[in-house]
Parts: sequence; structure tokens; C-alpha cells
Amino acid sequence: MLEFLYPLRTYLIVAGDLEKPNPMTADWVVPVSFKPALLGVAIGHGRYTKKLIDEQKDFVVAVPTIELLKDVWTAGTVSGSNKNKKELMSVTFIPSKKVKAPSIKECSANIECKVVKSVDTGDHTFYVGEIVNVTESDAFVDGKADIENYKFIMHASFGARFTTTSSEIIKP
Ligand SMILES: Cc1cc2nc3c(=O)[nH]c(=O)nc-3n(C[C@H](O)[C@H](O)[C@H](O)COP(=O)(O)O)c2cc1C
Repeated sequence: MLEFLYPLRTYLIVAGDLEKPNPMTADWVVPVSFKPALLGVAIGHGRYTKKLIDEQKDFVVAVPTIELLKDVWTAGTVSGSNKNKKELMSVTFIPSKKVKAPSIKECSANIECKVVKSVDTGDHTFYVGEIVNVTESDAFVDGKADIENYKFIMHASFGARFTTTSSEIIKP
């Protein structure tokens, strides 16, 4: 029934450390507070990412553009519990400023979060992360996404169907 919420934007959740980073693809990412700045992400109980976040209590939400779709698919279909995704992907992991989980150089923003709360929600855990630092590329101008020049990834529906944000701006 959750398929009726789609299309949704797609992100990479990076857990672990610079030596052994583990990126996982996630659609279920949502802002939940301005002050303090909080976001939430729902992570399935079987994910290796859940184990890493439970141990380290931090993660990075990396914002990919469409050029990274192949890597996004790999991060979302391979588990770090039996494969080193770093070796399968072409992205560069770089140190974050305020958390141990690394950032991704090629992503248009890296949102560094420390876990402040986690709620069991059936077969997922909803982690609330306080945003402690953000680094961004020129895909954002004054905090606004430059959708004329950059194509952010949207998951059109469950499965291998993606689209991008368009540059059409419609005012209400
Ligand atoms: C486009 C896409 C979106 C996904 N969104 C989520 C999500 O929001 N939460 C989640 O737990 N898994 C999500 N997944 C599944 C995980 O990314 C996938 O199970 C991954 O292999 C888990 O990796 P890990 O075991 O290394 O943590 C998504 C997969 C894809 C392809």
C-alpha cells in the first residue's frame, strides 16, 4: 500500500567509517523539525546499515544526482553484510566534519547526522538524526536546489524505475 506515496526522492545513507564505509540507498527519508534541525530515516531490520548505525550512532544522508544512478542501484541491491560496496561503486568517500560516517565527494550535499532517537516501526527502525553539519556543492544556491542545472533522483515506483526532478517551477 505504500506504493501510493511514490514518486519519492532517493538518497544514499552512509554508515560506518572512512576505512569501511557502507552506503545504502533510501527513499524513506523525511524532514521532521526546523529547530533543532532533525530528519528521519526508516531502515529495515535486516539491513547491515542498521547494525552500523546502532553501533556508531551517526550517519550521513548524501544527495545524489542522476549521473550516480548506477551506484545508487548497487547501494540499494547489494548488502554490506557480505560485500564491500566501496569496491563495487565508483564514488569517493571523504571525511565528514562532525561525524565518523564519511561523506561522498560526488554527491551534491552531505548531511551529517547524530542519532538522537530511534523508534521501532514494525519491520523498520525510524532513526531521528540531528543535523550537525552540511557540506554542499554548487547544485545548491543559497540553500535552494538548482534544478535547472542538476537532476536529482526520484524513484518513480518500487523497482528499477527512476525519473528526475524537472526544471519546471510551478507557483501555487
Ligand atoms: C531505490 C531504493 C530505495 C530504497 N529505500 C530504502 C529505504 O528507505 N529503507 C530501507 O531500509 N531500505 C531501502 N532500500 C533497500 C536497501 O537499500 C537495500 O536492502 C540495501 O541492499 C541494504 O544495504 P545494507 O545491507 O548494506 O544496509 C532501497 C533500495 C532501493 C533500490
